[in-house]
Amino acid sequence: MRSLILACLATSAAAAAAAPRYAVYFDQWHAAVLPNKSSTAGITHVITAFAQSSLFTTDPVTQYEPFLPLSDVRALFDKDTKVCMAIGGWGDTDGFSQGAATKESRKLFAKNIAATVQRLGYDCVDVDWEFPGGNGEDYKKNPNSNKTSEIQTYPLLLSEIKKAIDSVGCHELSIAVPALERDMIAYTAANVRKINGIVDVVNVMTYDLMNRRDNYTTHHTSLKGSLAAINTYIARGFKPSKLNLGFAFYAKWFTTADGVNCANTPVGCQTALLEAADGTDMGKSGAMTFEASTFAALPTGLVDSPDGSCGAGTNYKCPNDACCGQYGFCGTEVGHCGTGCQTGFGRCEGPSTKDSFKKALANSKYDAKNGGQWYWDADVNIFWTWDTPEIIARKFVDIVKVKGLGGVMAWSLGEDSYDWSHLLALQKNVKTLRPSH
Ligand SMILES: *[C@@H]1O[C@H](CO)[C@@H](O)[C@H](O)[C@H]1NC(C)=O
Ligand SMILES: *[C@@H]1O[C@H](CO)[C@@H](O)[C@H](O)[C@H]1NC(C)=O
Ligand SMILES: *[C@@H]1O[C@H](CO)[C@@H](O)[C@H](O)[C@H]1NC(C)=O
Repeated sequence: MRSLILACLATSAAAAAAAPRYAVYFDQWHAAVLPNKSSTAGITHVITAFAQSSLFTTDPVTQYEPFLPLSDVRALFDKDTKVCMAIGGWGDTDGFSQGAATKESRKLFAKNIAATVQRLGYDCVDVDWEFPGGNGEDYKKNPNSNKTSEIQTYPLLLSEIKKAIDSVGCHELSIAVPALERDMIAYTAANVRKINGIVDVVNVMTYDLMNRRDNYTTHHTSLKGSLAAINTYIARGFKPSKLNLGFAFYAKWFTTADGVNCANTPVGCQTALLEAADGTDMGKSGAMTFEASTFAALPTGLVDSPDGSCGAGTNYKCPNDACCGQYGFCGTEVGHCGTGCQTGFGRCEGPSTKDSFKKALANSKYDAKNGGQWYWDADVNIFWTWDTPEIIARKFVDIVKVKGLGGVMAWSLGEDSYDWSHLLALQKNVKTLRPSH
């Protein structure tokens, strides 16, 4: 086993010196319209999302089946594209907490991942713990003060996972890491130095740089904000060649405070209260993808939802006067009926964010100082922030090349299906990268 692991080290060192990485997440919620093979050409890693972390805490392991058979996934990409299994994702922390807790639990968690990878034929593993040490979706219910031990146990867990997946054949290990410094709780300089010695790739989620916990507007994936995150991680000890710069195939929107004019203020404009004191969503902010369905006309012949799902990309409307929320579920809470509710698929009390988004795209502004595209819709008090092919190109020059990063990453493939312009921009710019050290 030891010599096998040494052999894996040699392989990954060779891989590091090879072509730049171009990774895309492929998530189960955005698989309705997929790109053709000329649009996916050049992608080196596709990361299927997500396997739940709790599957790996049981003995024996709970069986995971990806949302598409891996042979179908492989068929969409180049012959030698690596297919990785992402574990976790936003809101999925309990399984990781349990897996990291003790020496025995770490060994079991790692062994279960290795067995799953081997059974399904994955090439690599991506750990998406959002986030070790706290500030996840559950941060009000299970406070950070209950997670301090994770700062110690996180590198130990990664080390067990790496050992286990290399013992069943060489498999790259990547992690997805937050871009906001306030969320880098377990990414202390001491930890980053350790983790740098364990993982092969670090997918830096340089987006969501504004979220509903904020009270003032800022760009969610600006050039300046992305660079700051990269600089922080390099200063704390990640080797630049291990870092992938993250790109978002979606816009974000935030309701601004009543009576405040944000027409000239993309950064620092006061928002409405976006999150309640108990951590729940006020229904006043969200995400909008660049999917075909975002721009499609309301389908005709909608039927009552049989299972609570609804909205763009489905044929379902909400029965019983319920509202169809932005994330595609029927309900009667403010999160379903307020701003972001999907007009035509159910009752709606808030303004239509789809209409506002179209207005934003048609009238957008570029903030050259920060490197971000934005718009403030004065009619409905909504601030929009997103990335364009032009800004993507600038990020390659000013971040990926200047900092000598190992590659790029995007969330997520199916979210760009309207015209694939973000995907094609990545493809074009990846071709301008040289092999890294
Ligand atoms: C593949 O998709 C791209 C992006 O939509 C399009 O420009 C191109 O013509 C398509 N190629 C083929 C062979 O269909
Ligand atoms: C604190 O963490 C432990 C271990 O992960 C967990 O079992 C417990 O439920 C947590 N407490 C709260 C209040 O969530
Ligand atoms: C936003 O305001 C709330 C309520 O005053 C406060 O608790 C929170 O810390 C603020 N958020 C940030 C990021 O400063």
